[in-house]
Amino acid sequence: GGDRREAMKKRSADSAVALVEDGDVVGLGTGSTAEYAVRALGERVDSGLDVRGIPTSHGSRAVAVEENVPLTSLDVTTPDIVIDGADAFDADLNLVKGGGAAHAREKVVARASDRVVTVVDETKERETLNAPVPLEVLDFAVPVVRERVEELGGRFALRETDAKDGAVVSDNGNVVADAVFDGYDAPALADELDGVTGVVEHGLFVGIADEVHVGRDDGVEVVR
Ligand code: A5P
Repeated sequence: GGDRREAMKKRSADSAVALVEDGDVVGLGTGSTAEYAVRALGERVDSGLDVRGIPTSHGSRAVAVEENVPLTSLDVTTPDIVIDGADAFDADLNLVKGGGAAHAREKVVARASDRVVTVVDETKERETLNAPVPLEVLDFAVPVVRERVEELGGRFALRETDAKDGAVVSDNGNVVADAVFDGYDAPALADELDGVTGVVEHGLFVGIADEVHVGRDDGVEVVR
């Protein structure tokens, strides 16, 4: 049930936050599991931990401000560690991210970070990835990106708000779509999508995560 899953997310977040050391710059992920991590980090700040956070979205910035986690930015430094969630992951530590449309900033922060820690509950575990791949796309380029995704064998679905009042727009002002495939080889598809002009960033994270902290009922499994 819901409470059980929230407990697994929290276990994973706590396990990742325990890795943060005094003086660290910490990338602050987006989504409900990362939010648990920012709140746990806030508790450690309360007890005297000296850290500075780099948010990956307006949402994670807001949580950090609420929790009194001091902030910095890529203008002045890079993260020692980033703690962020994922929508799906496999045993090779490939991730699908962007369920919350924040994957572009998340990827920028992750690639700049010394250590990339992913926090998930066990429902995110996949033997082979087939989750829709989030795409942040320049509005102007939507028709050509759609055609390219279809050539790659996928279906291109622009994301719309629940309120039926138009397209989902990212923190960066671009539209968000999902490329839906039956299944895929993550490294090969990531390469293809890297080459599509007009895609600002896609949600496949290949060779980026160093470890995934998987929250289960009875504890946390760290996959490396
Ligand atoms: C945000 O765009 C995503 O990359 C998130 O990391 C992802 O949606 C995880 O969110 P939850 O922890 O709420 O599942």
